[in-house]
Amino acid sequence: MKPVRKRSCASAPAKVILFGEHFVVYGKPAVLAAIDKRIHVRVTARNDDKIMINSNMNFRGSFSRTKAERAVRKNFHSMTQPILAATIGAMNEFDSFTGLDIRIDAGFPYAVGLGSSAATAVATVAAVGSLFGRLSKQRICEVSLDAERIVHKNPSGADSAICTYGGLMLFEKGKEARPIKTRLDLPLVVVDSGVKRVTGKIVASVSKLRKSDSDVFDGLSNMSHGVTLQALDAIRRKDYAEIGSLMTLNHSLLRMLGVSTNTLDMIIHKALNGGAIGAKLTGAGGGGCVIALAGRNSQRNVLKSVRGYDAFATKLESRGVLIS
Ligand code: PMV
Repeated sequence: MKPVRKRSCASAPAKVILFGEHFVVYGKPAVLAAIDKRIHVRVTARNDDKIMINSNMNFRGSFSRTKAERAVRKNFHSMTQPILAATIGAMNEFDSFTGLDIRIDAGFPYAVGLGSSAATAVATVAAVGSLFGRLSKQRICEVSLDAERIVHKNPSGADSAICTYGGLMLFEKGKEARPIKTRLDLPLVVVDSGVKRVTGKIVASVSKLRKSDSDVFDGLSNMSHGVTLQALDAIRRKDYAEIGSLMTLNHSLLRMLGVSTNTLDMIIHKALNGGAIGAKLTGAGGGGCVIALAGRNSQRNVLKSVRGYDAFATKLESRGVLIS
């Protein structure tokens, strides 16, 4: 089958995990939010079988069809692999292949816990798929999760789901993601510690701890479960004070799990002193970002309190993947 369009664009939002990261990998619930920053993917069909990838995230590559298909089967060693997997996965949905120019632009920091790899995979599947026909959101999510598996051996699937559907969601591995209906504003400040890390490595270190100290892990996991359920109730009641203090409590659990760092703890301390209602690391930890819940009109004060770090104010984004 030949592409029915020569070019297409898609975008997917960044995400934050408000509650439950890491424990979500082992079946506990997590609350995720899409935020108003996006990754844009532009694809143009070529007249040959080459796949050319270019990005402002510091990677690029040129692949023949055979090289692309081989790269997908290897262990993770380059940022282009999941993109090739997403591209080939999307074309397989239509039993097709074409050479492509793929341009990926991130409008937010990458490899810092904001879901850049999932958003890239989701937007790539959507853009490439739309050259040939229509893929449902469910299929976009599933195909992009397969691509994510190249980078993170055991992803929960939470990132792919939130980047596909947007909004605020309750996620449990293996179950259908559930949107949380609320009119909650989410005035957040995202602070980048400046330390990039690979999610798969941190997830592997947690898996090691789970095996060596199973009682400790189970205790933390049960507490995280309780915090997430309580947070869900607070979100439904729009109780900002409680949401904030549960975020800070969630961070303490992640610190005990060993995935925080001194820098992350220090940023959280500064943000809380600057008037944040609650703060925690978001995503895998080991570096990456902190999210702080700011009170009404206090995003500016929180931003001031973390001066010196790359930080931005953001809010909930209801829209997931978009195709144009
Ligand atoms: O750091 P990120 O954005 O890749 O988020 C990882 C979230 C984890 O719960 C640590 C792993 C997962 O697969 O859910």
